[in-house]
Amino acid sequence: MIPRQTVDKIIESARIEDIVGEFVTLKKRGVNLIGNCPFHNEKTPSFTVSPSKNIYKCFGCGKAGTPVNFVMTHLSLSYSDGLKWLANKYGIEVIEKETTPEEIQQRNERESLLIVMTFAQRYYNEVMHNTDEGKSIGLSYLTERGLTSVIIEKFGLGYSLNEKKSFTKAAINKGYLPDYLVKTGMAIVSKNFIEGTLVTEKDIFDRYNARVMFPIHDEGGRVVGFGGRILGNDKKTAKYINSPGTELYSKNKILYGLWFAKKSIQQTDKVFLVEGYMDVIAMHQSGYENVVASSGTSLTVDQIKALKRFTNNIVVLYDGDAAGQNAMARAIPMLLEDGMNVRLLFFPDNDDPDSYSRKVSNTEFVNYVETKTEDFLIYQARKLNSEFKNDPIKRAGVIKEIIENIALIPDTIIRSIYVKECAQIMDLQEQILQNEINKLILKAKNKNQKTISEPINVEEAPTFENVKPEPKTENTKISFEAEEKKIIELLVAYGNVYIQNVTIQTDDSNDEKAKVENIDITLGEYIRLDFNADGICFENPTYETIYEAYQQELHDGNMPDLNFFKNHANQTISNFVIEHIINVPSLSNNYEKKFEISTPKEINNLNEVVFKTLLSYKEKKIRQYISDCNDMLKEEYDKTIVNAEILEKLIYLNEKKVQVNKKLGRTVTK
Ligand code: UTP
Ligand code: MN
Repeated sequence: MIPRQTVDKIIESARIEDIVGEFVTLKKRGVNLIGNCPFHNEKTPSFTVSPSKNIYKCFGCGKAGTPVNFVMTHLSLSYSDGLKWLANKYGIEVIEKETTPEEIQQRNERESLLIVMTFAQRYYNEVMHNTDEGKSIGLSYLTERGLTSVIIEKFGLGYSLNEKKSFTKAAINKGYLPDYLVKTGMAIVSKNFIEGTLVTEKDIFDRYNARVMFPIHDEGGRVVGFGGRILGNDKKTAKYINSPGTELYSKNKILYGLWFAKKSIQQTDKVFLVEGYMDVIAMHQSGYENVVASSGTSLTVDQIKALKRFTNNIVVLYDGDAAGQNAMARAIPMLLEDGMNVRLLFFPDNDDPDSYSRKVSNTEFVNYVETKTEDFLIYQARKLNSEFKNDPIKRAGVIKEIIENIALIPDTIIRSIYVKECAQIMDLQEQILQNEINKLILKAKNKNQKTISEPINVEEAPTFENVKPEPKTENTKISFEAEEKKIIELLVAYGNVYIQNVTIQTDDSNDEKAKVENIDITLGEYIRLDFNADGICFENPTYETIYEAYQQELHDGNMPDLNFFKNHANQTISNFVIEHIINVPSLSNNYEKKFEISTPKEINNLNEVVFKTLLSYKEKKIRQYISDCNDMLKEEYDKTIVNAEILEKLIYLNEKKVQVNKKLGRTVTK
């Protein structure tokens, strides 16, 4: 457990713009920052960060939260791991209170798997440095491929021994469960293992033998997988073995190198996409840090989505061989469709960035990258005019491809620039080309209306008012939503404000004898006393959760304030409070006006507002009870006994109703 003071310190230090800025490129928009939402696919940014409120909010998908919420959601962390992630970023030392066995048990599996992966990364790195085999085979292989020791450590590279069980044994000695070694993909179960039985040491062996190990990091910098390369070029064995899909690693989502590239992609507003592990590393060594690899899979929509949060400009550096060209042909339309500006770079003689960077000097390499990058269209047109010059059928094929690609570009202005340029290159009339493209766009729209996304008009994007959670549907006729919401708003915003000269009934059993006192208490305590006296609880479960958390905190001797709710470990509470109580200056300005609670007038009038709200809530409750009683009376069975009880209750309720209405009347006329 993290001590309370440390939690407070972390929460105070964490700046939402820093944290979100690590994962999303943000641009200034008035007092806020805006970017592409990391939680849903969007072409027009509606993800808003408010530095003054220290929260984020997406007007597209409705997700909102504090810095802790952000890392929890984005990196799939628990509350305490989210805090630790932030602490690490801000250099805050976390000395945990002693962890109880129950707490260890509660650690979810995902966290345990991450711990195994961290162990594996350190293990393979140590083996490479501290064993004879590691040094003479693993380390020397990497050094021969031109890697410096700085870069080897930066990427955390390692070596797996040529033994069947060396990692497995080391991990089990350390106390890691065999089951977790299998679930991380680091160990494989033997053929003889009987499904459904407990995995033990004898059932498993290492996935990687005699390979150089490339740890694969997720966006938060945690090791989630490995690629292991054989030494040498044995054509019969797979060159690279990658982690299988696990709870931590899904190859379609992860881009190798993104963790190391994020900052540089944001600074340069550009990303280089390469094919392999070594290409990423070689680019770093040549001075380019804004580089990622799709690592053996063809580029996926999820990977593009991850990149688009940082930049719209991509340079694809695939091998010049047939496989590379095919991968490129598949990637280009996907990138264009997502509104990326696509440029290409080919290396001569089937070289890849890694091999080419070793062939030439660093100056030559940089010069090549800077001058040989060309627009995808120019590349295609060049192909048209050189290779296929005298082959009309192939020419027609390329023209078709070019037109199809241009039609995918979502931005009309950019598209029209391409049309112009393309018409020139291909020596076609611009209008003819435009017509062809329009036909394709219309066809695509009719065929699959849902996938063609019209740009979202930011002004029409959802606002706070219309992304509210659906109110719980009640089978009762009376809705308490408005009053309950108001009470919770008051509690959260002003719960620790003192209200003066309050009259409270300390004994409700008999109205005549009720003791009346005039005291100063906080609004929160007042609500509590009032609720307890009447045995009321909230109908809306979210409000009940908030109310109970408030009670608990009071009970623990603390005075909860707005920050207590905003940073609450229970996401239901913090999300609700951020969505409904703290107002990110909304894209529609009238939000401030609609949100009466933040008007200063109200705080001056707090006594009256809270009395009135509680009374009208009670009045409704009474009306509800009365109508329930009347309904019951209408029922046919058990008339004699039950009816007497109900009638008694009805009489009591009607008296209450008169009292409450009288008070309400007084309050109103006062
Ligand atoms: P390449 O075959 O182009 O290898 O595969 P490379 O990156 O140039 O590797 P080196 O330079 O010989 O070490 C490109 C990428 O495809 C994936 C790897 O991510 C590799 O980096 N790949 C390739 C595999 O996953 N498995 C394989 O067997 C081969
Ligand atoms: Mn290579």
